[in-house]
Amino acid sequence: MFIGPFALDNGLFVAPMAGVTDRPFRQLCKRLGAGYAVSEMVTSRPDLWNTLKTSRRANHDGEPGPIAVQIAGTDAAMMAEAARYNVDRGAQIIDINMGCPAKKVCNKWAGSALMQDESLALSIIDAVVQACAPSNVPVTLKMRTGWCQSHKNALSIALAAQDAGVQMVTVHGRTREQGYKGHAEYDTIAAVKAALRIPVVANGDISSPEKARAVLQRTGADAIMIGRAAQGQPWIFREIAHFLSTGEHLAPPLVSEVKRLLIEHLHDHYSLYGEFIGVRSARKHIGWYVHSLPGAEAFRQEMNALEDSASQLAAVGHYLDRLNTEMDRIPVRGADATCAKENRGATGADRTSAPRMEVAL
Ligand SMILES: Cc1cc2nc3c(=O)[nH]c(=O)nc-3n(C[C@H](O)[C@H](O)[C@H](O)COP(=O)(O)O)c2cc1C
Repeated sequence: MFIGPFALDNGLFVAPMAGVTDRPFRQLCKRLGAGYAVSEMVTSRPDLWNTLKTSRRANHDGEPGPIAVQIAGTDAAMMAEAARYNVDRGAQIIDINMGCPAKKVCNKWAGSALMQDESLALSIIDAVVQACAPSNVPVTLKMRTGWCQSHKNALSIALAAQDAGVQMVTVHGRTREQGYKGHAEYDTIAAVKAALRIPVVANGDISSPEKARAVLQRTGADAIMIGRAAQGQPWIFREIAHFLSTGEHLAPPLVSEVKRLLIEHLHDHYSLYGEFIGVRSARKHIGWYVHSLPGAEAFRQEMNALEDSASQLAAVGHYLDRLNTEMDRIPVRGADATCAKENRGATGADRTSAPRMEVAL
């Protein structure tokens, strides 16, 4: 799978998620099997480029390439300028956000709201492609299936974007109107894939290896993109990769590995955000890692009251050490916690027969 000149290791992508897929989390996902990750969206408003928030979002220190930066905005000239600015600072791929339902970006409806105004959407795409052309930086587009159920225009925008020079399109199988409610549908993604020459990525509600395989089969997409299901389980990428290549399930991670990964993640997180913000913004990640593990609720309440990184690290270590006395591997998500006992003694290379998850398409 290629994006412009960049060959990717595989077609398992980390979805951009503002406030989640910062550089430490993207790096972790890539280490654990993701072939590609896009940054959280960066505003196209120049007056905000020097804020701490935007500069943290633009931080790619030590991240393996290609470095992909997503930009969001509603003004073609500003979006072109934002593309140039980020390319000058190391972006190797520019992604245009037409997928995020966030209410307002730049004080105007942006993200997926742009799908309501096709001519504005296309003027932005054109301007960004032109801005990136001199440096041979590929431009990609992330969007939804349309504005609402009766106005699903992903196909016409995707075709026009391809004509304008966009080199990959990702489609989240929901409309803007749906937000995150209901289910993602994959027929529109299949129609986009069937019509385009450039790679098409399927996104939405992919939360298990079975679902990944089913979405790939249903859409014919070149790659899949995973967002919420990676929160607190960045190893989902290696699990899906293993399942797609062998048809077998990889054993869930050892509790000791989860401890090592989470502690490394936290150190990296504090180094990006600093002590005060870092401790507070790490709480959501810790909560996701321990989600549905035994004693997680009490642990989260205790951990949320801690205000410094040393106590947070110690609490995480203590909780996972205690869990390790009860089980070697974390339970399969959504499975009965007792099945972890059955995995006792398995090595990382072993396969386990995780319960089949229902695949609703
Ligand atoms: C917390 C959060 C933040 C998000 N931020 C962005 C963003 O910055 N840019 C974007 O294009 N999509 C954003 N999205 C949408 C995701 O990239 C993805 O399209 C959506 O979550 C559906 O995929 P999933 O079902 O695998 O989570 C965000 C989603 C979540 C949950």
